[in-house]
Amino acid sequence: MTATVEPFRAMAIGQLAHALAAQGRSIIHMEYGQPSTSAPAAAIAKAHQVLDTEAQGYWESAPLKERIVQHYAETQGATIAPDQVILTCGASPALLLALTSAFAPGARIACARPGYVAYRNSLAALHMVCVEVPCGAAERYQLTAAALAALDPAPDGVILASPANPTGTIIAPDDLAAIVDVCRARGIRIISDEIYHGLSYTGPTVSVAALDPTALIVNSFSKYFSMPGWRLGWLIAPRDLVDAAYARMSNLLLTPPVLAQHAGLIAFDCADELDGHIATYAANRAAMLAALPALGLAKIAPPDGAFYIWADIAHLTNDSMDFCTRLLQDTGVATAPGVDFDPVDGHRFMRFSFAVSTPEVEDAIARMIPWFAAQR
Ligand SMILES: Cc1ncc(COP(=O)(O)O)c(C=O)c1O
Repeated sequence: MTATVEPFRAMAIGQLAHALAAQGRSIIHMEYGQPSTSAPAAAIAKAHQVLDTEAQGYWESAPLKERIVQHYAETQGATIAPDQVILTCGASPALLLALTSAFAPGARIACARPGYVAYRNSLAALHMVCVEVPCGAAERYQLTAAALAALDPAPDGVILASPANPTGTIIAPDDLAAIVDVCRARGIRIISDEIYHGLSYTGPTVSVAALDPTALIVNSFSKYFSMPGWRLGWLIAPRDLVDAAYARMSNLLLTPPVLAQHAGLIAFDCADELDGHIATYAANRAAMLAALPALGLAKIAPPDGAFYIWADIAHLTNDSMDFCTRLLQDTGVATAPGVDFDPVDGHRFMRFSFAVSTPEVEDAIARMIPWFAAQR
């Protein structure tokens, strides 16, 4: 029997936003979880050059794998071998490689609720079971060692995300180490989705690669590197799963675009430009946090990283899809309804993405303040 996979409902908001824009409405896109900036200029220049000079065949860039290895050595003190790096078309296929390499159909995988919509839906498509662990404001919407220790029976695996989507919260280094300890003791295999690494406002992001050589690490050029449409990411496979993951990549997915691989290698050396984006996000985050009281939104977990704010809107609605649709229609500000990220409590939450320009965030706040006041 085929699995039922739920739609990503924020897509409907995005489609409505584009339809309104086509009618001439001014739209601010805070529904998408993606940078509004383009790839680094030097990466784009490299792609232009490569397009004119190289055949675009199936290819795995050895220099890019070496650069990723160097990145873990320099930033995390972690030793990874180049053959453990499997290049993919983004974090999404890397997640599928990780799940299918480490687990069989029927496997039980713990995920935080709220969490990224594709965890639940990918697990369903692969006939695996998502063990949703409700994570509230007290835990800053993150899994804890205690919550994983309490699961009975122990799940086969867990997906960690820090910084997380939709909340932006980060698991503190000590708490992450405690989670790794519990997982080791209980035989729970970790998949760590580190796609928002590099986007932190509170300190460096610790990779599970530095703590657990049996974990599978997922990452991508879609967020920090500002290259979502280039479709490039990677999986770090633990030694015992390298062959399994490589076999799946070469049968199910094949290699990412040549252009993207060349450009991605250059992007590693574009920190000045990319850190400029972080400065913009930091200003946007500060503007949004300062505006929350005026919006009447008191219940949030301040985001440590990524570019999201997850807000409790229970005092305003119990239908976040309707709420976000009306907000968009009335003000032109597009946001994501919480139901995508939390099927149980998400009807009374919404997610703002502040990966737009600072003037757009300021404009959105000005439009939203009277609208939110009218809802109360
Ligand atoms: C937590 C998380 N993981 C994975 C992805 C997928 O990213 P991509 O396939 O573009 O690398 C996203 C996209 O928003 C995400 O938020």
